[in-house]
Formats: sequence, structure tokens, C-alpha cells
Amino acid sequence: MGIELTINKRAHIVDVAPDTPLLWVLRDLLGLTGTKYGCGIAQCGACTVHVGNDAVRSCITAVGDVGKPVTTIEGLDPDGNHPVQRAWRDEHVPQCGYCQAGQIMQAAAFLAETKNPTDQQIRDAMSGNICRCGCYQRIQSAVGIASRGV
Ligand code: FES
Ligand code: FES
Repeated sequence: MGIELTINKRAHIVDVAPDTPLLWVLRDLLGLTGTKYGCGIAQCGACTVHVGNDAVRSCITAVGDVGKPVTTIEGLDPDGNHPVQRAWRDEHVPQCGYCQAGQIMQAAAFLAETKNPTDQQIRDAMSGNICRCGCYQRIQSAVGIASRGV
């Protein structure tokens, strides 16, 4: 008996144990490798996806508990033109890129709920997403730009 999931608006049935991390299903079973594995213990944000409207850490989310449609970086916008993605390009945010899908998904969920955020609100919302390249200044700037276009 499989587990039913809706991911990026497509229905899937996956044959895994219910306690399998959602991240494993996304990357290893479905080939959605835009979502990254960083720490595996909810400390870095690299694995962030949307479950319903919430940004969640897919490394600690049991696939049996998902219960709502999942959106990954591949499904955020069909053309890669979500306001956050446009702002990311305009600000040349990434360096190595490893953390970036998680950063973008975190920012998109935050801005969907928070209109006209202050710099402090942006910093607070993004504080759980680690960037080992230290792109924080550009991330903050891009989230601010995107907040005017979401
Ligand atoms: S891999 Fe999930 S928070 Fe680090
Ligand atoms: S861009 Fe390299 S870890 Fe963030």
C-alpha cells in the first residue's frame, strides 16, 4: 500500500515506510534534486519545501505526515519567474548555490504571509537558513525587492 502525495500539482503514490523523510522521497524516488540535503536535523534549511502554505524542513518531515500538497523549487513557478526568483537573479544572490533552493522557498512562504516586511522581519524569517558562502546581505536585499513584487 503506497502513500499518496501531491507534489508540484502532480499526484504520486510512493511505496515507502511512513516515517521515511519527505526529502528522501523527493530526491531519491522522484528525482526532484533541487531540494538539498544539508544537515538532516532541521538546522540548516537547505531542504526547505512548502507543505500547503508553510515552509517546512523536508529532512525531518515524515512522508506519512505530509497531508497537504507539496511544492518544491521545481514547482514554485513554471518558468522560474516567481518574484523571489526574479529578485534573486537581479541581485546575483548565489555563490555555490547549495543553500539557494531552501532560501528561496523560505522567502516565498514568508512573503506570501508578510506584506512590506521590515529588514528585521526579513532577517528573522531567514535566520534559520544557513549559507556557508555568506550571501546573507544579498539574500536580505533580494527578499526586500521581492516583497514589492509578490
Ligand atoms: S537538511 Fe534539512 S534543515 Fe538541514
Ligand atoms: S550560496 Fe553557497 S551555501 Fe549559500
